Amino acid sequence: MPDAPSSSPATQLERRLEDRTAIVGIIGLGYVGLPLALAFARQGFTVLGFDVDAAKVESLNRGRSYIDHIESGELAGLIEAGRLRATTDADRLAEPDALLLCVPTPLTPQREPDMSFVLATAEEVAARLRPGQLVVLESTTYPGTTEDVLKPLLEREGLTSGEDFFLAYSPEREDPANPSFSTSTIPKVVGGADPRSAELAEALYRGVVSRTVRVSSARAAEATKLSENIFRAVNIALVNELKMVYDAMGIDVWEVLDAAESKPFGFMRFNPGPGWGGHCIPVDPFYLSWKAREYGVSTRFIELAGEVNVEMPRWVVRKLQLALNERGKPVKGSKVLLLGLAYKKDVADPRESPAFEILDLLLHLGADVCYHDPHVPEAPAMRTWPDLPPLLSVALDDEVLAAQDAVLLVTDHSAVDYERVLRIADLVLDSRGVFRRLGPPAERVLAV
Ligand SMILES: NC(=O)c1ccc[n+]([C@@H]2O[C@H](COP(=O)([O-])OP(=O)(O)OC[C@H]3O[C@@H](n4cnc5c(N)ncnc54)[C@H](O)[C@@H]3O)[C@@H](O)[C@H]2O)c1
Repeated sequence: MPDAPSSSPATQLERRLEDRTAIVGIIGLGYVGLPLALAFARQGFTVLGFDVDAAKVESLNRGRSYIDHIESGELAGLIEAGRLRATTDADRLAEPDALLLCVPTPLTPQREPDMSFVLATAEEVAARLRPGQLVVLESTTYPGTTEDVLKPLLEREGLTSGEDFFLAYSPEREDPANPSFSTSTIPKVVGGADPRSAELAEALYRGVVSRTVRVSSARAAEATKLSENIFRAVNIALVNELKMVYDAMGIDVWEVLDAAESKPFGFMRFNPGPGWGGHCIPVDPFYLSWKAREYGVSTRFIELAGEVNVEMPRWVVRKLQLALNERGKPVKGSKVLLLGLAYKKDVADPRESPAFEILDLLLHLGADVCYHDPHVPEAPAMRTWPDLPPLLSVALDDEVLAAQDAVLLVTDHSAVDYERVLRIADLVLDSRGVFRRLGPPAERVLAV
């Protein structure tokens, strides 16, 4: 039945969200946008995805997933059922009732927020915004983006936020490849640019997530997301610092963590590693640092966490250098195999992976480096390391392993035969505590 002419844009939208006749538009079909699109389509909404990457759009419309931990089967079914389509045509932005912005928010080379993707998307939306649409920013960003940047931009054509259209912020908390949580089981924080927008955004997400957590403003929601990732960045730095201290004292940090973890309260385990990686943890904290400068406040924990974590690849390479030295070998000319290139276990995502810094350092020292990563068959071109040579993942067979002077474990993917590495490799440096789980410590294995 058509809506009564007297009903407001908010009431009409509310009704469509409740009966799931609302069309949901997802802008940016990457690691965040694609699972979100699936979550809405799965719950009966019609989803229209937007991306500037024509290859992704084509792949999605053919029912083929381009993210390795998302299977094509369900995707193809939803495409077939007409629940999900994707397009590069920005003119279709007027079709959806809700538009969720999931575009990248990286750092500039000067390590400041790069808002170009959010701004470009907002410009496209602003040019086509119609009464009754709900716009939600999901990209991680500094407090104030939704209310101070997006709102004036979207109001430019004469519509008023909170009356004609609705605006909110709801951060994504996706944890790629974590089998315990998915988009729909992770509670969703929602903050509106005004109370009506917050209500509508909550109504939207209630349709797909187990729980929504409403905060008083979009600012508070933006700060919540940053706080979660800063918490991780600082704790990763802390445990990495502990690793270096205990290493100097001849104490095994992994043994200490296993024991400390037995405390049933007041301790939360973080694991050391070869650095920090991924699109979020090495990036997001600096969104807050940058904004804090405007208020004359310093963010010392964030800066310190950055210093410690950025140092880790160099520390790991120094340990490798010393271990080779013990064997009378210089790094120059030594064959080194990096085990894992992705930034974390069981994903193919190489963004900000410490493996690239390690690779770069080793190549500068003259090592003969190769890598094995079952999820990354080809090392992608990286903006931060433009001079790295093209590399393909080598097979992890006995011959390759026997030819190495050292194997350096960077990423602890499950699909690697660690027993074989332990059996054949002459020297193993383990930055993830994998080999200690295989039995009594071997002299050829060093924790780094
Ligand atoms: N990856 C994660 O695990 C994760 C977790 C939580 C939050 N986030 C945040 O979510 C946001 C998106 O991250 P991601 O990992 O999905 O990035 P991504 O690079 O995987 O995907 C972003 C997509 O946006 C597209 N895009 C760029 N500009 C566009 C435009 N103007 N119009 C339409 N599409 C456009 C890109 O082509 C790409 O497909 C970032 O702010 C990130 O910090 C990511």
